[in-house]
Amino acid sequence: MIVERARAKLNLALHVRARRPDGYHELETLFAFVEHGDEIRVARADAPSFTIDGRFCKALRAEDDNLITRAAAAFAADIGGGPWAIGLGKWLPVASGIGGGSADAAATLRALAELEGVAPDDPRLFAIAERLGSDVPACLLGRTALGRGRGEVLELVAGAPGMPALLVNPGVAVSTAEVFRRWDGVDRGPLGAGPLLDVARAGRNDLAAPAIAIAPVIGEVLAALEGSGAALVRMSGSGATCFALYDDDAAAEAADRRVRKAGPGWWRALTRLTG
Ligand code: C5P
Repeated sequence: MIVERARAKLNLALHVRARRPDGYHELETLFAFVEHGDEIRVARADAPSFTIDGRFCKALRAEDDNLITRAAAAFAADIGGGPWAIGLGKWLPVASGIGGGSADAAATLRALAELEGVAPDDPRLFAIAERLGSDVPACLLGRTALGRGRGEVLELVAGAPGMPALLVNPGVAVSTAEVFRRWDGVDRGPLGAGPLLDVARAGRNDLAAPAIAIAPVIGEVLAALEGSGAALVRMSGSGATCFALYDDDAAAEAADRRVRKAGPGWWRALTRLTG
């Protein structure tokens, strides 16, 4: 059996530049990843199967169409192999802006590649990832990167591995398509250049305002994280998960306690950036 971690994705900045004729939006975004994530398990089997466990397993139904089974079907069609027994440990909140489904699909592709003896940088994997969703190529790469296009044009940048990160989700699922639909159409300018955190701090998440309009509690989460001594506070993706990055563990742990008081029912993960 192959076990792959599907690490949560953070958008340290997300600039929406234009609506495209194909219904997508032109983006500039800084992708980063944390240690915390879902878990994908794959093994060869006599018949295909898919099972889900973990804290957020009830939010998904194994019978429904999902990015994991679509990734496996695309792998079988384009590359071959199978059937496989696939297991998902669902530890990330669903539809929450940290790429849960995209990270799961990418981890499935990585795990099947290892099981079937396909090189992890095989271009066929990236071609499948692009078809599955805008964030799946970034999750397949799994490294700190600048994303352009609809998020699939990737350029590696120096990360901040080990930096403490606190992720907070208030328990509302937001539709990415709806958040993009509510974007006001104003191009507020490109990402700057320079060291990762300087670029992130000078940047924005242009989807925060439309997401807060849909789910005002996101504003409460950001307010709880602001003033906690963070190096960066931001909503990730189309929300509702927000995160803060800290220079040291003590500050991150103090912020975790403070946020627990502000929103006792909110999901929190105290973790670290990876490279
Ligand atoms: O690509 P993916 O299926 O993950 O995107 C979900 C939805 O988010 C799209 O249908 C689209 O409405 C919106 N989206 C967008 N521009 C992007 C990425 C996603 O408008 N760059």
